[in-house]
Parts: sequence; structure tokens; C-alpha cells
Amino acid sequence: MKKYLIAASILSANFACLGQDINNVLTAGADLIHFDVMDNHYVPNLTFGPMVLQSLRDYGITSNIDVHLMTKSVDNLIISFAKSGANCIIFHPENSYHIDRSLSLIKEYGCKAGLALNPTTSLHYLDYTLDKIDIILIMSVNPGFAGQLFLPFIYKKIKQVKNILNHNNNNILLSIDGGININNINKIVNYGADILVMGSAIFNNQHSYIKNIQLIRKYIK
Ligand code: DX5
Ligand code: ZN
Repeated sequence: MKKYLIAASILSANFACLGQDINNVLTAGADLIHFDVMDNHYVPNLTFGPMVLQSLRDYGITSNIDVHLMTKSVDNLIISFAKSGANCIIFHPENSYHIDRSLSLIKEYGCKAGLALNPTTSLHYLDYTLDKIDIILIMSVNPGFAGQLFLPFIYKKIKQVKNILNHNNNNILLSIDGGININNINKIVNYGADILVMGSAIFNNQHSYIKNIQLIRKYIK
């Protein structure tokens, strides 16, 4: 069976006891944490910043944490999040004045680098960046909120990106973010996803985290 990772999006976690909730979801079987940063400018929602990440590291969270920047400002936040303990920093290319420079900055601070593509963002952003990126994050909902429906035209996009990656023979991971649940997960993995970002399906289900994650894995054939 193909290898894939489940990234728990803490946008749907309990912010009143975030450290404990993250420990619980990791113990339940999530492979890594997805940290959704929203600034109320690029997207209408507002979440958390580098100080929260630092607190989680201080609390003892040692898992990989992918930081997903849904912010108009990119470079300043790259530095702050890298210093606060991010393992990977992913930004939306339309928010950077100089994409190559932002990618280099992430590398300079010792993190993995990723580009996030909104549902309608053109794939031309991949033309000159593949040598510097470790992750491509395809948004399967419009960014800003948890609990939205997966947009079906994204299957085609996953396939297109996978083709580009296969032709370039590199180790870039393909991450899919938004609206993933037990009904679409198998198709998404079979289309080529390596990382599945999931919030509601893990945190807002009636079952325990462990039961939800076990169920998710059972649906992937
Ligand atoms: C949306 C975020 C996602 C989202 C995933 O802007 O980037 O990470 O919270 O949550 P679900 O799984 O609920 O769509
Ligand atoms: Zn995200």
C-alpha cells in the first residue's frame, strides 16, 4: 500500500487546552500537526501566531509541525515561525513579492519549504520553484475556515501536479488541505496525495480521536 501521512489541522482543536489536545491527537495516531495561521486580511478568519507555536514547543510537543501561512505578510512571519519551532513553512505564492527569496529564507532558517495553491491558483507558480520546495499544498477548499466541502474539480488538479512531479523525478510531497473525510479520502490518496490535512473529520466527529483516525485509515485501500 502507498505511504501517506495524516496531518491534524488544529484549526478545529480545543484552543482552551491546545497542548493537551495536540498530545491527544498525536497519541491517537496523527503523524504530524498542521498549524493554520490566518491574519484577517488574506482570509477573513483570525487564528494564532508564533507565540502560540513557541508555547506548544515549551509545553513539550516534539512532533513535526507544518505551518500554513494564510497571511498577506510572508517574510517576517517566516523568520518568527522558524525561530518558534516550525519544521516546515508553507506560504501562498501570491503573498510574496519575491517567491524565490521567501523560499530561500525558509531554507536559511533550517525549515522545509512549501507553496500553497488555492483551488483556482495557476500551476505556473511551479515552473521555476521545484528545486527549492519540499511540499506542494493543494487547497481543496477556499482558505479561511474549517468544515467546508471538498471541491470536486481539485481531483484534476491533484493529477496535473502529480504528473509534473513524476516528470521531474524529485522528492516533493503532495499535501491536500480541506474537506477531506472518509467518503473522499481513498480517491485523494489514489490520485497521488502524500499528506492528508484533516481538521473536522478528526476533531469534530462524535467518536474519539483514536476511533476517527482508525476509521480514516480503514477507508484507504
Ligand atoms: C482551511 C485550512 C484547513 C482546514 C482543514 O483554510 O487551511 O487546514 O482547516 O479543515 P477541514 O478538514 O475541516 O476542512
Ligand atoms: Zn491549512
